[in-house]
Amino acid sequence: MENQKKIILTGDRPTGKLHLGHYVGSLKRRVELQNSGEYDKIFIMIADAQALTDNADNPEKVRQNILEVALDYLSVGLDPAKSTLFIQSQVPQLCELTTYYMNLVTVSRLQRNPTVKAEIQMRNFEASIPVGFFNYPISQAADITAFLATTVPVGEDQLPMLEQTKEIVRKFNQTYGDVLVEPDILLPDNKACLRLPGTDGKAKMSKSLGNCIYLSDSAKDVRTKVMSMYTDPDHIRVSDPGKVEGNTVFTYLDAFSRPEHFAKYLPDYENLDALKEHYRRGGLGDVKVKKFLVAVLEEELAPIRARRQELEKDIPAVYRILKEGSEAAYRTAAETLRLVKNAMKINYFEDEELIRAQSEKYGK
Ligand code: TRP
Repeated sequence: MENQKKIILTGDRPTGKLHLGHYVGSLKRRVELQNSGEYDKIFIMIADAQALTDNADNPEKVRQNILEVALDYLSVGLDPAKSTLFIQSQVPQLCELTTYYMNLVTVSRLQRNPTVKAEIQMRNFEASIPVGFFNYPISQAADITAFLATTVPVGEDQLPMLEQTKEIVRKFNQTYGDVLVEPDILLPDNKACLRLPGTDGKAKMSKSLGNCIYLSDSAKDVRTKVMSMYTDPDHIRVSDPGKVEGNTVFTYLDAFSRPEHFAKYLPDYENLDALKEHYRRGGLGDVKVKKFLVAVLEEELAPIRARRQELEKDIPAVYRILKEGSEAAYRTAAETLRLVKNAMKINYFEDEELIRAQSEKYGK
């Protein structure tokens, strides 16, 4: 398809506030893509229905966090004038699409989905997997295809979901005709951003591990968290040579620092390589590096925090943005569902040819 529109769809489960891992892994990129002007449409979804697939007993948690995620979105610079922000459950066409896609996927294929496998283990679901949870990769395919998205900017943990989506698109198009669009995943290009470790050095920032820096954290909290960050356990005295690999503070600097930060805060070093070199050699203390990281993070977080404070003054306005976004998303999804049902020939009342042919069969 030449002249194909460039459309983004992505989103997050509202199970908590968003943190720096979300920020470097996806949010920051979304804002850049939004402001690049290269996309015809951008849909950002708060995936409450997906969050309920493993929080069925705690809808209040999901309900509370919808606003938190919306505030995080708006404060990082997602702009409702350029991007449609919406709530998944308010677009029922997604459920309808899911139902039809379920016929195109086998149980064994779902069981092989690495993300589902890992999550089943993490949640001790082995013996009692909710069907809705098991099915969420198919529902995610519905989210993406309902908007005919071409581009899905997400973290690498979502790769298996995108694979599953592409398979569904191919199967659908083969079976019913060319309607759906195969999406491409867009991963962060900086390695440190692919998976930002927690402040304790564990592989991933995660609320349950208590190792997150949240976008909504106060400057004081950010400082405290950075000052107690995991570094190189063998770097005890300042004079000791240190390791930068696996050293969380340096991983964060890989993700966040830019040459201008050095000119401003650490003019003795030209860039991150020079700082790393000194650390390896010995003679550079953790506290100095951590203070630098605090300054670097503040450059990024202070404007986000300020915007959040403004937004918090008018919460009803935030809900209005979500409502309008959800209405717009509904219209787009309804249009795609119409194409899907036409292709599947489940459009009985709009199909005059069907009615005529059936009449002829009965000799009229
Ligand atoms: N699975 C994503 C997460 O856990 C959320 C999500 C739901 C999503 N549907 C999506 C992301 C569609 C991208 C595209 O955060």
